[in-house]
Amino acid sequence: MLKPLFFALTLGLCTCSLAQPNAQSSLDGFWQYTVPNGGTTFFALKQSGESITASEADWKMPLTGTLQGNKLHLTVSAKFGNETFEILYEGVRESADKFELNEKAPGVRPGEVIERKGTLQRVSREVVYPERLSLPPLADQPDNGLVRTPPMGWNSWNHYHDQFDDATVRQMADAMISSGMAAAGYKYIIVDEGWSSSRDANGNIVGNARFPDMKALADYVHSKGLKIGIYSSPGPQVCGGYQGSYGHEEQDAKTFADWGYDYLKYDWCGASRIYQRTPADLEGAYQKMAAALAKTNRPLVFSLCEYGWGDVWKWGAKAGGNLWRTTGDISDHWASMDRIGFAQLDITQFSKPGHWNDPDMLEVGNGGMTADEYRTHMSLWALLRAPLIAGNDLRTMTEETKSILMNAEVIAIDQDPEALPVQRTPPQATSEVLVRPLANEAVAVGLFNRGSAPAQIGFRWDSLHLNANLGGKSLEARDLWKHEGISVTGDSYTATVPPHGVVLVRVAVKQFGTF
Ligand code: GLA
Repeated sequence: MLKPLFFALTLGLCTCSLAQPNAQSSLDGFWQYTVPNGGTTFFALKQSGESITASEADWKMPLTGTLQGNKLHLTVSAKFGNETFEILYEGVRESADKFELNEKAPGVRPGEVIERKGTLQRVSREVVYPERLSLPPLADQPDNGLVRTPPMGWNSWNHYHDQFDDATVRQMADAMISSGMAAAGYKYIIVDEGWSSSRDANGNIVGNARFPDMKALADYVHSKGLKIGIYSSPGPQVCGGYQGSYGHEEQDAKTFADWGYDYLKYDWCGASRIYQRTPADLEGAYQKMAAALAKTNRPLVFSLCEYGWGDVWKWGAKAGGNLWRTTGDISDHWASMDRIGFAQLDITQFSKPGHWNDPDMLEVGNGGMTADEYRTHMSLWALLRAPLIAGNDLRTMTEETKSILMNAEVIAIDQDPEALPVQRTPPQATSEVLVRPLANEAVAVGLFNRGSAPAQIGFRWDSLHLNANLGGKSLEARDLWKHEGISVTGDSYTATVPPHGVVLVRVAVKQFGTF
């Protein structure tokens, strides 16, 4: 979880003057903390005696600390999604403008602590707040023709955050094939935050020591018959402080295309230090990169990640997006998934082939939810026509995890060619019945129990409007998690749905005796 959201900004070299060491000089001003092959973070410090606080009123990363002699101790409260966590920095002053620090921060998994060493150096205000470059006037971008059904793949973030490397990604590509995930439809291997370092003398973005050759990595993933995605930001830095594309949009688009990437996740993050959260800035920044991608002539899926700001579902397609995050980050527990998933029902009509609402990546298999909860997660994402981007370790999946991620009948709902929106029937207490019309005279019905006790949830057969013109034909129904038929008798069907669980049913007009 090493990510002070929005305020960790990667930078090049210190632009401060080379002052003579003066252990007494005040810490007032801006500082950049850099971890070799890691992100960097900016601090705005104010010193009063031995006490250290944040110097800017709008500095949203609260910090407290002390400087006693040459010993610095800082505690930063960083916000990640809805959670706040503490990062500790401790170390000694090397000179007036430089400290060597040890950092301790929570890792991705509960109880995990990551320790690393970095250097804190004084920088100028311009380093933290670079000059604003102009954005293009808003104009509709052409459809790139990609992802006519919601993209499916794997992304590093949910399981690893930035603690992964080239070998991990290659192993994940191998596992995508050997586990059967590729055959089930998962095809994009997406490298999220953590790969970039800085820029070379020509301004070209380069990978860090954990990602020494991004082209070779793309070649490897392609050799497996898969596609590969990369990650950047309209800001100078991505969320955890690695290099972003600000001011280098065309150059980076060309680099990603030359390396052979097929997908770009473009995350707002550090852009908050430059642009406003206005429609013109949000849309303009994404449009700028969409145009740069189009100019490469390589088909790259463009994934917008700005957490749903400015009702992105209304303009994401115009700005050249193939998918756009509609929410803040998901985390691997029921409350997060339930809140995000069901909130999508209000905006599901904005998804269409080539342009999808993205309620964030899957947490299935990461261990924070029960199997019933993960089945709810997968069923809901499929009914929503959401991108299915797995976020677990594909090398070590249990049979249960495989049965959830690779349930072909559930995936078929997500990928249904008609791509019609799901319909919500008025919720009853904690019960939800969602109905999604499918191709070939069929519907999917999700019976969801959001409560903590088993519930009886049902629907009337005639509410599905499949039987209007049946003639001599009749309906057939199937439970897509039990993989067995349901007899279509009486007026309705009612199931006992476990707490936080789902019963997902496909009902179809019988077609010549086949289902
Ligand atoms: C943001 C995004 C996440 C992930 C991280 C990386 O929080 O929403 O999906 O990309 O940044 O830092």
